[in-house]
Amino acid sequence: MIKDVLNLIDKSLKSFILFQILCAVWGILYTICSLIFPTAVSKLIDQVILAHEYNKTLYYLFIILISGFLMIVFNYIQYIEYYKFGQKGKLIISKKIFDRILHANGKFREKYSSGDILRIIEQDTNQIENFIGQGIGQIAVNIIVVAGVIILILVQQPIIGLIMIILSVAFSLIQAFLSYILKQEASELRDDLGKNSSFSNEVILHSEQVATSGYVETYFQEYKSRNEKIYTKNISQMSKILMGRNIGIAYNVIGNLITMGIGVCEIRNGNMTVGSLLAFTMYVQRLYGPLVIISNSYLNLKKAVPHIERIKRFLDSAECIIDGCIKPETKMRGIIAFKNVFFKYDEKEVLKRCNLQIEPEKLTAIIGNNGSGKSTLIKLLLKTYNCSSGEILVDNIDINKYSNNYFYNNISVMFQNNFLISGKLIDIINPGKKEVDMNYIYSLFQRVRLDINKFESGLDTYICENNINVSGGELQKLNIIKILIEDRPLVILDEPTSALDNDSEDEICELFKELLRGRTVIIVTHRKRILGICDKIINFNTIQEEQE
Ligand SMILES: Nc1ncnc2c1ncn2[C@@H]1O[C@H](COP(=O)(O)OP(=O)(O)OP(=O)(O)O)[C@@H](O)[C@H]1O
Ligand SMILES: [Mg+2]
Repeated sequence: MIKDVLNLIDKSLKSFILFQILCAVWGILYTICSLIFPTAVSKLIDQVILAHEYNKTLYYLFIILISGFLMIVFNYIQYIEYYKFGQKGKLIISKKIFDRILHANGKFREKYSSGDILRIIEQDTNQIENFIGQGIGQIAVNIIVVAGVIILILVQQPIIGLIMIILSVAFSLIQAFLSYILKQEASELRDDLGKNSSFSNEVILHSEQVATSGYVETYFQEYKSRNEKIYTKNISQMSKILMGRNIGIAYNVIGNLITMGIGVCEIRNGNMTVGSLLAFTMYVQRLYGPLVIISNSYLNLKKAVPHIERIKRFLDSAECIIDGCIKPETKMRGIIAFKNVFFKYDEKEVLKRCNLQIEPEKLTAIIGNNGSGKSTLIKLLLKTYNCSSGEILVDNIDINKYSNNYFYNNISVMFQNNFLISGKLIDIINPGKKEVDMNYIYSLFQRVRLDINKFESGLDTYICENNINVSGGELQKLNIIKILIEDRPLVILDEPTSALDNDSEDEICELFKELLRGRTVIIVTHRKRILGICDKIINFNTIQEEQE
Protein backbone atom coordinates (compact mmCIF):
# COMPACT_ATOMS: atom_id res chain seq x y z
CA MET A 1 0.00 0.00 0.00
CA ILE A 2 2.83 2.41 0.84
CA LYS A 3 4.35 1.79 -2.59
CA ASP A 4 1.01 2.50 -4.23
CA VAL A 5 0.65 5.75 -2.33
CA LEU A 6 4.23 6.77 -3.15
CA ASN A 7 3.53 6.12 -6.84
CA LEU A 8 0.45 8.27 -6.59
CA ILE A 9 2.41 11.19 -5.14
CA ASP A 10 5.43 10.72 -7.43
CA LYS A 11 7.82 9.98 -4.59
CA SER A 12 10.41 7.22 -4.60
CA LEU A 13 10.71 4.79 -1.73
CA LYS A 14 14.24 6.11 -1.16
CA SER A 15 13.18 9.74 -0.76
CA PHE A 16 10.31 8.64 1.47
CA ILE A 17 12.61 6.62 3.71
CA LEU A 18 15.02 9.57 3.90
CA PHE A 19 12.16 11.81 4.88
CA GLN A 20 11.02 9.35 7.55
CA ILE A 21 14.57 9.12 8.91
CA LEU A 22 14.84 12.89 9.09
CA CYS A 23 11.55 13.11 10.96
CA ALA A 24 12.59 10.20 13.16
CA VAL A 25 15.67 12.21 14.17
CA TRP A 26 13.39 14.97 15.43
CA GLY A 27 11.31 12.29 17.11
CA ILE A 28 14.37 10.81 18.80
CA LEU A 29 15.51 14.24 20.00
CA TYR A 30 12.04 14.78 21.39
CA THR A 31 12.16 11.38 23.11
CA ILE A 32 15.52 12.13 24.67
CA CYS A 33 14.21 15.41 26.07
CA SER A 34 11.03 13.73 27.24
CA LEU A 35 13.16 11.24 29.19
CA ILE A 36 15.52 13.84 30.62
CA PHE A 37 12.54 15.76 31.95
CA PRO A 38 11.25 13.11 34.45
CA THR A 39 14.82 12.15 35.37
CA ALA A 40 15.50 15.76 36.36
CA VAL A 41 12.24 15.86 38.33
CA SER A 42 13.18 12.67 40.17
CA LYS A 43 16.65 14.05 40.98
CA LEU A 44 15.12 17.29 42.21
CA ILE A 45 12.93 15.33 44.62
CA ASP A 46 15.60 12.88 45.80
CA GLN A 47 18.67 15.12 45.88
CA VAL A 48 17.16 18.53 46.62
CA ILE A 49 13.94 18.02 48.51
CA LEU A 50 14.66 14.78 50.38
CA ALA A 51 18.46 15.16 50.76
CA HIS A 52 18.19 18.93 51.46
CA GLU A 53 20.88 19.88 48.89
CA TYR A 54 19.17 23.11 48.00
CA ASN A 55 22.20 24.52 46.19
CA LYS A 56 21.30 22.14 43.27
CA THR A 57 17.77 23.56 42.92
CA LEU A 58 18.58 26.00 40.13
CA TYR A 59 20.59 23.40 38.25
CA TYR A 60 17.71 20.89 38.11
CA LEU A 61 15.10 23.57 37.46
CA PHE A 62 17.25 24.75 34.55
CA ILE A 63 17.41 21.18 33.11
CA ILE A 64 13.63 20.81 33.51
CA LEU A 65 13.11 24.14 31.74
CA ILE A 66 15.50 23.41 28.86
CA SER A 67 14.30 19.83 28.30
CA GLY A 68 10.68 21.02 28.42
CA PHE A 69 11.41 23.83 25.96
CA LEU A 70 13.27 21.52 23.54
CA MET A 71 10.43 19.00 23.74
CA ILE A 72 8.07 21.69 22.47
CA VAL A 73 10.45 22.75 19.67
CA PHE A 74 11.24 19.22 18.42
CA ASN A 75 7.63 18.20 18.61
CA TYR A 76 6.66 21.22 16.51
CA ILE A 77 9.34 20.66 13.86
CA GLN A 78 8.48 16.99 13.54
CA TYR A 79 4.74 17.53 13.13
CA ILE A 80 5.00 20.49 10.79
CA GLU A 81 7.29 18.44 8.53
CA TYR A 82 4.80 15.60 8.44
CA TYR A 83 1.99 18.04 7.82
CA LYS A 84 3.81 19.71 4.93
CA PHE A 85 4.58 16.33 3.41
CA GLY A 86 0.95 15.25 3.71
CA GLN A 87 -0.33 18.50 2.21
CA LYS A 88 2.12 18.27 -0.68
CA GLY A 89 0.98 14.70 -1.41
CA LYS A 90 -2.63 15.80 -1.31
CA LEU A 91 -1.91 18.67 -3.69
CA ILE A 92 -0.17 16.38 -6.20
CA ILE A 93 -3.02 13.90 -6.14
CA SER A 94 -5.75 16.52 -6.38
CA LYS A 95 -4.05 17.95 -9.48
CA LYS A 96 -3.79 14.48 -11.03
CA ILE A 97 -7.45 13.78 -10.32
CA PHE A 98 -8.59 17.04 -11.84
CA ASP A 99 -6.36 16.54 -14.86
CA ARG A 100 -7.83 13.05 -15.24
CA ILE A 101 -11.35 14.46 -15.23
CA LEU A 102 -10.43 17.06 -17.83
CA HIS A 103 -9.18 14.34 -20.18
CA ALA A 104 -11.87 11.76 -19.48
CA ASN A 105 -13.95 10.27 -22.26
CA GLY A 106 -17.64 9.42 -22.27
CA LYS A 107 -17.19 5.88 -20.93
CA PHE A 108 -15.39 7.30 -17.91
CA ARG A 109 -18.23 9.71 -17.25
CA GLU A 110 -20.73 6.88 -17.41
CA LYS A 111 -18.74 5.00 -14.77
CA TYR A 112 -18.35 7.79 -12.21
CA SER A 113 -21.19 9.89 -10.93
CA SER A 114 -20.53 13.55 -10.13
CA GLY A 115 -21.08 12.90 -6.39
CA ASP A 116 -18.52 10.15 -6.45
CA ILE A 117 -15.97 12.32 -8.21
CA LEU A 118 -16.56 15.18 -5.77
CA ARG A 119 -16.03 12.81 -2.87
CA ILE A 120 -12.81 11.59 -4.43
CA ILE A 121 -11.51 15.14 -4.85
CA GLU A 122 -12.63 16.50 -1.53
CA GLN A 123 -12.47 13.60 0.89
CA ASP A 124 -10.50 10.65 -0.43
CA THR A 125 -7.51 12.94 -0.95
CA ASN A 126 -7.65 13.87 2.76
CA GLN A 127 -7.05 10.25 3.55
CA ILE A 128 -3.86 10.31 1.49
CA GLU A 129 -2.76 13.25 3.61
CA ASN A 130 -3.58 11.26 6.75
CA PHE A 131 -1.82 8.26 5.40
CA ILE A 132 1.50 9.82 4.49
CA GLY A 133 1.45 12.92 6.63
CA GLN A 134 0.36 11.65 9.95
CA GLY A 135 -0.26 7.94 9.93
CA ILE A 136 3.06 6.43 8.98
CA GLY A 137 5.09 9.21 10.54
CA GLN A 138 3.26 9.14 13.82
CA ILE A 139 3.52 5.41 14.05
CA ALA A 140 7.25 5.43 13.28
CA VAL A 141 8.14 8.18 15.71
CA ASN A 142 5.97 6.95 18.51
CA ILE A 143 7.27 3.42 18.18
CA ILE A 144 10.69 4.95 18.78
CA VAL A 145 9.35 6.78 21.84
CA VAL A 146 7.71 3.65 23.21
CA ALA A 147 10.80 1.56 22.53
CA GLY A 148 13.04 4.18 24.17
CA VAL A 149 10.91 4.38 27.29
CA ILE A 150 10.53 0.61 27.60
CA ILE A 151 14.30 0.10 27.29
CA LEU A 152 14.83 2.72 29.98
CA ILE A 153 12.32 1.07 32.27
CA LEU A 154 13.74 -2.37 31.46
CA VAL A 155 17.25 -1.30 32.41
CA GLN A 156 16.18 0.30 35.66
CA GLN A 157 13.30 -1.99 36.69
CA PRO A 158 13.32 -5.25 34.65
CA ILE A 159 10.07 -6.61 36.13
CA ILE A 160 8.09 -3.48 35.38
CA GLY A 161 9.71 -3.31 31.93
CA LEU A 162 8.77 -6.90 31.12
CA ILE A 163 5.19 -6.40 32.20
CA MET A 164 5.00 -3.25 30.08
CA ILE A 165 6.28 -5.18 27.03
CA ILE A 166 3.66 -7.91 27.49
CA LEU A 167 0.97 -5.27 27.88
CA SER A 168 2.17 -3.46 24.74
CA VAL A 169 2.09 -6.64 22.64
CA ALA A 170 -1.43 -7.45 23.86
CA PHE A 171 -2.46 -3.88 23.13
CA SER A 172 -1.07 -4.07 19.58
CA LEU A 173 -2.80 -7.38 18.81
CA ILE A 174 -6.18 -6.06 19.89
CA GLN A 175 -5.61 -2.95 17.76
CA ALA A 176 -4.72 -5.06 14.73
CA PHE A 177 -7.95 -7.03 15.10
CA LEU A 178 -10.02 -3.86 15.47
CA SER A 179 -8.36 -2.29 12.44
CA TYR A 180 -9.20 -5.32 10.30
CA ILE A 181 -12.90 -4.93 11.07
CA LEU A 182 -12.64 -1.17 10.65
CA LYS A 183 -11.19 -1.50 7.15
CA GLN A 184 -14.11 -3.68 6.00
CA GLU A 185 -16.64 -1.24 7.37
CA ALA A 186 -14.81 1.79 5.95
CA SER A 187 -14.98 0.31 2.46
CA GLU A 188 -18.76 -0.17 2.65
CA LEU A 189 -19.20 3.27 4.17
CA ARG A 190 -17.15 4.84 1.36
CA ASP A 191 -19.46 3.31 -1.27
CA ASP A 192 -22.56 4.51 0.53
CA LEU A 193 -21.14 8.02 0.93
CA GLY A 194 -20.35 8.21 -2.80
CA LYS A 195 -23.88 7.15 -3.75
CA ASN A 196 -25.41 9.52 -1.23
CA SER A 197 -23.34 12.45 -2.54
CA SER A 198 -24.55 11.75 -6.06
CA PHE A 199 -28.14 11.61 -4.96
CA SER A 200 -27.88 14.85 -2.93
CA ASN A 201 -26.00 16.52 -5.76
CA GLU A 202 -28.70 15.67 -8.24
CA VAL A 203 -31.50 16.86 -5.98
CA ILE A 204 -29.65 20.09 -5.14
CA LEU A 205 -28.97 20.80 -8.82
CA HIS A 206 -32.61 20.21 -9.71
CA SER A 207 -34.26 21.33 -6.48
CA GLU A 208 -36.81 23.39 -8.36
CA GLN A 209 -38.12 20.39 -10.32
CA VAL A 210 -38.08 18.27 -7.17
CA ALA A 211 -39.93 20.87 -5.09
CA THR A 212 -42.72 21.12 -7.65
CA SER A 213 -42.89 17.47 -8.66
CA GLY A 214 -45.31 16.34 -5.94
CA TYR A 215 -42.76 13.72 -4.89
CA VAL A 216 -40.99 15.77 -2.23
CA GLU A 217 -41.89 13.24 0.47
CA THR A 218 -40.55 10.34 -1.62
CA TYR A 219 -37.22 12.08 -2.15
CA PHE A 220 -37.08 13.11 1.49
CA GLN A 221 -37.65 9.52 2.64
CA GLU A 222 -34.95 8.35 0.25
CA TYR A 223 -32.53 10.93 1.69
CA LYS A 224 -33.51 10.00 5.23
CA SER A 225 -33.03 6.28 4.75
CA ARG A 226 -29.65 6.74 3.01
CA ASN A 227 -28.42 9.03 5.79
CA GLU A 228 -29.72 6.81 8.56
CA LYS A 229 -27.77 3.93 7.05
CA ILE A 230 -24.65 6.09 6.96
CA TYR A 231 -25.33 7.25 10.52
CA THR A 232 -25.43 3.64 11.76
CA LYS A 233 -22.20 2.79 9.95
CA ASN A 234 -20.48 5.94 11.22
CA ILE A 235 -21.45 5.12 14.80
CA SER A 236 -20.22 1.56 14.41
CA GLN A 237 -16.92 2.83 13.01
CA MET A 238 -16.50 5.38 15.76
CA SER A 239 -17.27 2.78 18.43
CA LYS A 240 -14.39 0.64 17.10
CA ILE A 241 -12.08 3.64 17.17
CA LEU A 242 -13.18 4.50 20.72
CA MET A 243 -12.72 0.90 21.79
CA GLY A 244 -9.18 1.18 20.51
CA ARG A 245 -8.66 4.34 22.53
CA ASN A 246 -10.18 2.77 25.64
CA ILE A 247 -7.77 -0.09 25.40
CA GLY A 248 -5.08 2.59 25.50
CA ILE A 249 -6.56 4.08 28.65
CA ALA A 250 -6.80 0.60 30.20
CA TYR A 251 -3.16 0.08 29.34
CA ASN A 252 -2.30 3.32 31.14
CA VAL A 253 -4.32 2.41 34.22
CA ILE A 254 -2.83 -1.09 34.45
CA GLY A 255 0.67 0.27 33.84
CA ASN A 256 0.33 2.81 36.65
CA LEU A 257 -1.17 0.23 38.97
CA ILE A 258 1.74 -2.15 38.43
CA THR A 259 4.34 0.60 38.77
CA MET A 260 2.81 1.88 42.00
CA GLY A 261 2.36 -1.62 43.44
CA ILE A 262 5.91 -2.71 42.69
CA GLY A 263 7.24 0.77 43.53
CA VAL A 264 5.74 0.74 47.04
CA CYS A 265 7.34 -2.68 47.72
CA GLU A 266 10.67 -1.54 46.31
CA ILE A 267 10.69 1.65 48.42
CA ARG A 268 9.84 -0.40 51.52
CA ASN A 269 12.75 -2.73 50.74
CA GLY A 270 15.00 0.28 50.18
CA ASN A 271 15.63 -0.55 46.48
CA MET A 272 13.91 2.55 45.15
CA THR A 273 13.60 6.23 46.05
CA VAL A 274 10.39 8.29 46.06
CA GLY A 275 11.84 10.45 43.27
CA SER A 276 12.55 7.49 41.02
CA LEU A 277 9.04 6.11 41.64
CA LEU A 278 7.64 9.46 40.54
CA ALA A 279 9.92 9.34 37.49
CA PHE A 280 8.66 5.84 36.73
CA THR A 281 5.04 6.87 36.87
CA MET A 282 5.96 9.69 34.48
CA TYR A 283 7.61 7.21 32.13
CA VAL A 284 4.49 5.10 32.16
CA GLN A 285 2.51 8.23 31.38
CA ARG A 286 4.95 8.90 28.53
CA LEU A 287 4.15 5.46 27.17
CA TYR A 288 0.45 6.04 27.19
CA GLY A 289 0.39 9.08 24.88
CA PRO A 290 2.51 7.53 22.11
CA LEU A 291 0.69 4.21 22.36
CA VAL A 292 -2.65 5.94 21.87
CA ILE A 293 -1.21 7.86 18.93
CA ILE A 294 0.15 4.63 17.44
CA SER A 295 -3.17 2.88 17.80
CA ASN A 296 -5.17 5.84 16.44
CA SER A 297 -2.80 6.29 13.54
CA TYR A 298 -2.87 2.60 12.80
CA LEU A 299 -6.66 2.58 12.83
CA ASN A 300 -6.67 5.67 10.61
CA LEU A 301 -4.26 4.01 8.20
CA LYS A 302 -6.53 1.02 7.85
CA LYS A 303 -9.51 3.28 7.48
CA ALA A 304 -7.70 5.14 4.68
CA VAL A 305 -7.07 2.03 2.59
CA PRO A 306 -10.44 1.91 0.75
CA HIS A 307 -10.14 5.63 -0.04
CA ILE A 308 -6.65 5.19 -1.45
CA GLU A 309 -7.76 2.18 -3.49
CA ARG A 310 -10.59 4.28 -4.90
CA ILE A 311 -8.19 7.05 -5.97
CA LYS A 312 -5.88 4.49 -7.52
CA ARG A 313 -8.69 2.87 -9.50
CA PHE A 314 -9.85 6.29 -10.61
CA LEU A 315 -6.42 7.40 -11.81
CA ASP A 316 -5.59 4.02 -13.35
CA SER A 317 -8.73 3.77 -15.45
CA ALA A 318 -7.71 4.03 -19.08
CA GLU A 319 -10.82 5.85 -20.25
CA CYS A 320 -9.19 8.99 -21.62
CA ILE A 321 -9.71 10.89 -24.83
CA ILE A 322 -7.06 9.54 -27.20
CA ASP A 323 -4.32 12.11 -27.73
CA GLY A 324 -2.30 11.82 -30.93
CA CYS A 325 0.74 13.77 -32.00
CA ILE A 326 -0.20 15.30 -35.35
CA LYS A 327 -0.40 19.09 -35.16
CA PRO A 328 -0.53 20.53 -38.68
CA GLU A 329 0.88 24.02 -39.20
CA THR A 330 -2.26 25.15 -40.96
CA LYS A 331 -5.75 25.50 -39.60
CA MET A 332 -8.15 22.60 -40.00
CA ARG A 333 -10.28 22.72 -43.15
CA GLY A 334 -12.98 20.36 -41.97
CA ILE A 335 -13.23 17.65 -44.65
CA ILE A 336 -15.04 15.05 -42.56
CA ALA A 337 -15.58 11.41 -43.43
CA PHE A 338 -17.18 8.64 -41.38
CA LYS A 339 -16.10 5.31 -42.86
CA ASN A 340 -17.97 2.15 -41.89
CA VAL A 341 -18.43 3.42 -38.36
CA PHE A 342 -20.09 1.09 -35.87
CA PHE A 343 -20.81 2.24 -32.35
CA LYS A 344 -22.67 0.96 -29.35
CA TYR A 345 -23.16 2.16 -25.79
CA ASP A 346 -22.67 -1.03 -23.78
CA GLU A 347 -25.11 -3.31 -25.59
CA LYS A 348 -27.11 -0.67 -27.41
CA GLU A 349 -26.02 -0.36 -31.04
CA VAL A 350 -26.49 3.21 -32.23
CA LEU A 351 -24.43 3.49 -35.41
CA LYS A 352 -24.37 0.59 -37.89
CA ARG A 353 -21.87 0.93 -40.71
CA CYS A 354 -22.30 4.67 -40.86
CA ASN A 355 -20.75 6.27 -43.93
CA LEU A 356 -21.03 9.96 -44.47
CA GLN A 357 -19.06 12.87 -45.88
CA ILE A 358 -19.15 16.48 -44.80
CA GLU A 359 -17.78 18.96 -47.26
CA PRO A 360 -15.46 21.71 -46.10
CA GLU A 361 -16.45 25.34 -45.89
CA LYS A 362 -20.14 24.50 -46.21
CA LEU A 363 -23.10 24.53 -43.83
CA THR A 364 -24.37 20.96 -43.43
CA ALA A 365 -27.51 20.15 -41.52
CA ILE A 366 -28.07 16.78 -39.91
CA ILE A 367 -31.67 15.88 -39.28
CA GLY A 368 -33.24 12.70 -37.95
CA ASN A 369 -35.62 11.21 -35.43
CA ASN A 370 -35.12 11.50 -31.70
CA GLY A 371 -32.71 8.89 -30.52
CA SER A 372 -31.46 8.12 -34.04
CA GLY A 373 -27.87 8.93 -32.99
CA LYS A 374 -27.17 12.50 -34.15
CA SER A 375 -25.65 13.67 -30.86
CA THR A 376 -23.75 10.39 -30.64
CA LEU A 377 -22.28 11.13 -34.06
CA ILE A 378 -21.04 14.49 -32.73
CA LYS A 379 -19.55 12.83 -29.64
CA LEU A 380 -17.69 10.37 -31.86
CA LEU A 381 -16.42 13.20 -34.03
CA LEU A 382 -15.23 14.98 -30.87
CA LYS A 383 -13.42 11.83 -29.70
CA THR A 384 -15.34 11.61 -26.42
CA TYR A 385 -16.36 8.09 -27.48
CA ASN A 386 -14.42 5.71 -29.69
CA CYS A 387 -15.98 3.84 -32.61
CA SER A 388 -16.42 0.11 -32.05
CA SER A 389 -15.03 -0.24 -35.58
CA GLY A 390 -14.49 1.92 -38.65
CA GLU A 391 -12.76 5.26 -38.74
CA ILE A 392 -13.46 8.95 -38.70
CA LEU A 393 -11.24 11.22 -40.76
CA VAL A 394 -10.84 14.97 -40.60
CA ASP A 395 -8.81 16.44 -43.45
CA ASN A 396 -7.97 12.83 -44.41
CA ILE A 397 -6.32 12.07 -41.06
CA ASP A 398 -7.77 9.71 -38.45
CA ILE A 399 -9.08 11.96 -35.65
CA ASN A 400 -7.27 9.90 -33.01
CA LYS A 401 -3.94 10.85 -34.57
CA TYR A 402 -4.45 14.57 -33.94
CA SER A 403 -3.01 16.16 -30.85
CA ASN A 404 -5.95 17.21 -28.70
CA ASN A 405 -4.52 20.67 -28.31
CA TYR A 406 -4.60 21.23 -32.10
CA PHE A 407 -7.87 19.37 -32.59
CA TYR A 408 -9.98 21.16 -30.00
CA ASN A 409 -8.52 24.58 -30.77
CA ASN A 410 -9.85 24.22 -34.30
CA ILE A 411 -13.37 23.23 -33.33
CA SER A 412 -16.14 25.25 -31.73
CA VAL A 413 -18.94 23.20 -30.23
CA MET A 414 -22.33 23.99 -28.88
CA PHE A 415 -23.75 20.95 -27.13
CA GLN A 416 -27.41 20.06 -27.02
CA ASN A 417 -27.54 20.63 -23.25
CA ASN A 418 -26.24 24.14 -23.92
CA PHE A 419 -24.31 24.89 -20.77
CA LEU A 420 -21.74 27.51 -19.84
CA ILE A 421 -19.46 27.31 -16.80
CA SER A 422 -20.41 30.02 -14.32
CA GLY A 423 -18.49 33.27 -14.18
CA LYS A 424 -18.58 36.87 -15.35
CA LEU A 425 -20.47 37.30 -18.62
CA ILE A 426 -17.37 38.57 -20.43
CA ASP A 427 -15.37 35.56 -19.24
CA ILE A 428 -17.92 32.97 -20.24
CA ILE A 429 -18.32 34.31 -23.77
CA ASN A 430 -14.56 34.73 -24.12
CA PRO A 431 -13.00 32.10 -21.83
CA GLY A 432 -9.71 32.16 -23.74
CA LYS A 433 -9.46 35.94 -23.05
CA LYS A 434 -8.86 36.62 -26.75
CA GLU A 435 -8.16 40.20 -27.69
CA VAL A 436 -11.47 41.24 -29.18
CA ASP A 437 -12.77 44.67 -30.04
CA MET A 438 -15.50 45.46 -27.47
CA ASN A 439 -17.60 47.09 -30.20
CA TYR A 440 -17.60 43.76 -32.02
CA ILE A 441 -18.83 42.03 -28.87
CA TYR A 442 -21.61 44.59 -28.42
CA SER A 443 -22.57 44.25 -32.11
CA LEU A 444 -22.88 40.48 -31.65
CA PHE A 445 -25.27 41.03 -28.72
CA GLN A 446 -27.34 43.26 -31.01
CA ARG A 447 -27.28 40.78 -33.87
CA VAL A 448 -28.52 37.90 -31.71
CA ARG A 449 -31.16 40.23 -30.24
CA LEU A 450 -29.78 39.98 -26.73
CA ASP A 451 -30.08 43.27 -24.86
CA ILE A 452 -26.88 43.76 -22.87
CA ASN A 453 -28.70 46.31 -20.68
CA LYS A 454 -30.86 43.49 -19.36
CA PHE A 455 -27.80 42.24 -17.46
CA GLU A 456 -27.53 44.44 -14.36
CA SER A 457 -23.75 44.89 -14.58
CA GLY A 458 -23.41 44.50 -18.33
CA LEU A 459 -20.48 42.30 -19.33
CA ASP A 460 -19.43 42.10 -15.66
CA THR A 461 -22.69 40.41 -14.64
CA TYR A 462 -22.11 37.13 -12.86
CA ILE A 463 -23.77 34.17 -14.55
CA CYS A 464 -24.54 31.75 -11.73
CA GLU A 465 -23.82 28.08 -11.32
CA ASN A 466 -26.05 26.05 -13.65
CA ASN A 467 -26.82 29.30 -15.45
CA ILE A 468 -29.94 29.79 -13.35
CA ASN A 469 -30.02 33.58 -13.82
CA VAL A 470 -30.38 33.39 -17.61
CA SER A 471 -33.19 31.94 -19.68
CA GLY A 472 -32.74 28.95 -22.00
CA GLY A 473 -32.91 31.17 -25.10
CA GLU A 474 -30.50 33.75 -23.64
CA LEU A 475 -28.09 30.96 -22.88
CA GLN A 476 -28.22 29.74 -26.48
CA LYS A 477 -27.56 33.28 -27.67
CA LEU A 478 -24.58 33.61 -25.32
CA ASN A 479 -23.24 30.31 -26.63
CA ILE A 480 -23.60 31.56 -30.20
CA ILE A 481 -21.70 34.76 -29.29
CA LYS A 482 -18.98 32.65 -27.69
CA ILE A 483 -18.62 30.58 -30.87
CA LEU A 484 -18.45 33.67 -33.05
CA ILE A 485 -15.74 35.17 -30.82
CA GLU A 486 -13.79 31.89 -30.92
CA ASP A 487 -13.60 32.16 -34.71
CA ARG A 488 -12.55 28.55 -35.35
CA PRO A 489 -12.66 26.77 -38.73
CA LEU A 490 -14.92 23.84 -37.74
CA VAL A 491 -18.18 24.64 -36.00
CA ILE A 492 -20.48 21.98 -34.57
CA LEU A 493 -23.89 23.05 -33.33
CA ASP A 494 -26.26 20.55 -31.73
CA GLU A 495 -29.75 22.07 -31.73
CA PRO A 496 -28.47 25.66 -31.50
CA THR A 497 -31.85 27.33 -31.86
CA SER A 498 -34.18 24.93 -30.06
CA ALA A 499 -35.03 27.51 -27.37
CA LEU A 500 -35.22 30.62 -29.57
CA ASP A 501 -38.32 32.59 -30.52
CA ASN A 502 -39.11 32.86 -34.24
CA ASP A 503 -37.72 36.38 -34.76
CA SER A 504 -34.50 35.55 -32.96
CA GLU A 505 -34.15 32.36 -34.96
CA ASP A 506 -34.57 34.27 -38.24
CA GLU A 507 -31.95 36.77 -37.11
CA ILE A 508 -29.55 34.03 -36.04
CA CYS A 509 -29.99 32.20 -39.34
CA GLU A 510 -28.91 35.40 -41.09
CA LEU A 511 -26.00 35.75 -38.69
CA PHE A 512 -24.86 32.18 -39.33
CA LYS A 513 -25.14 32.69 -43.08
CA GLU A 514 -22.98 35.79 -42.84
CA LEU A 515 -20.48 35.03 -40.10
CA LEU A 516 -20.04 31.30 -40.47
CA ARG A 517 -19.42 31.42 -44.21
CA GLY A 518 -16.09 29.95 -45.19
CA ARG A 519 -16.09 27.54 -42.23
CA THR A 520 -17.19 23.95 -42.06
CA VAL A 521 -20.37 23.99 -40.07
CA ILE A 522 -22.42 21.01 -38.88
CA ILE A 523 -25.81 21.87 -37.49
CA VAL A 524 -27.90 19.16 -35.89
CA THR A 525 -31.43 20.46 -35.91
CA HIS A 526 -35.13 19.71 -35.87
CA ARG A 527 -36.00 23.29 -36.88
CA LYS A 528 -37.13 23.88 -40.47
CA ARG A 529 -36.04 27.55 -40.67
CA ILE A 530 -32.41 26.76 -40.20
CA LEU A 531 -32.45 24.21 -43.02
CA GLY A 532 -33.03 27.10 -45.43
CA ILE A 533 -29.51 28.46 -44.88
CA CYS A 534 -27.73 25.09 -45.18
CA ASP A 535 -25.87 23.97 -48.31
CA LYS A 536 -26.57 20.31 -47.66
CA ILE A 537 -28.99 18.31 -45.54
CA ILE A 538 -28.13 14.83 -44.31
CA ASN A 539 -31.05 12.78 -43.13
CA PHE A 540 -29.68 10.52 -40.46
CA ASN A 541 -32.67 8.15 -40.59
CA THR A 542 -32.12 7.33 -44.24
CA ILE A 543 -28.36 6.97 -43.84
CA GLN A 544 -28.83 4.39 -41.14
CA GLU A 545 -31.60 2.62 -43.07
CA GLU A 546 -29.42 2.41 -46.19
CA GLN A 547 -26.76 0.64 -44.20
CA GLU A 548 -29.14 -1.97 -42.75
N1 LIG B 1 -24.46 7.56 -22.51
C1 LIG B 1 -25.36 6.76 -23.07
N2 LIG B 1 -25.48 5.48 -22.64
C2 LIG B 1 -26.38 4.65 -23.21
N3 LIG B 1 -27.21 5.00 -24.21
C3 LIG B 1 -27.14 6.26 -24.66
C4 LIG B 1 -26.21 7.20 -24.12
N4 LIG B 1 -26.36 8.37 -24.78
C5 LIG B 1 -27.34 8.16 -25.69
N5 LIG B 1 -27.80 6.91 -25.62
C6 LIG B 1 -28.81 6.29 -26.48
O1 LIG B 1 -28.33 6.31 -27.81
C7 LIG B 1 -29.35 6.64 -28.70
C8 LIG B 1 -28.94 7.82 -29.57
O2 LIG B 1 -28.89 8.96 -28.74
P1 LIG B 1 -28.54 10.40 -29.30
O3 LIG B 1 -28.46 11.31 -28.15
O4 LIG B 1 -27.37 10.30 -30.16
O5 LIG B 1 -29.83 10.70 -30.17
P2 LIG B 1 -30.22 12.00 -30.99
O6 LIG B 1 -30.38 11.59 -32.40
O7 LIG B 1 -29.27 13.09 -30.72
O8 LIG B 1 -31.62 12.33 -30.37
P3 LIG B 1 -32.33 13.76 -30.15
O9 LIG B 1 -32.90 14.20 -31.44
O10 LIG B 1 -33.40 13.43 -29.18
O11 LIG B 1 -31.33 14.70 -29.60
C9 LIG B 1 -30.59 6.90 -27.90
O12 LIG B 1 -31.42 5.77 -27.98
C10 LIG B 1 -30.09 7.10 -26.49
O13 LIG B 1 -30.98 6.57 -25.55
MG1 LIG C 1 -29.36 14.86 -29.76
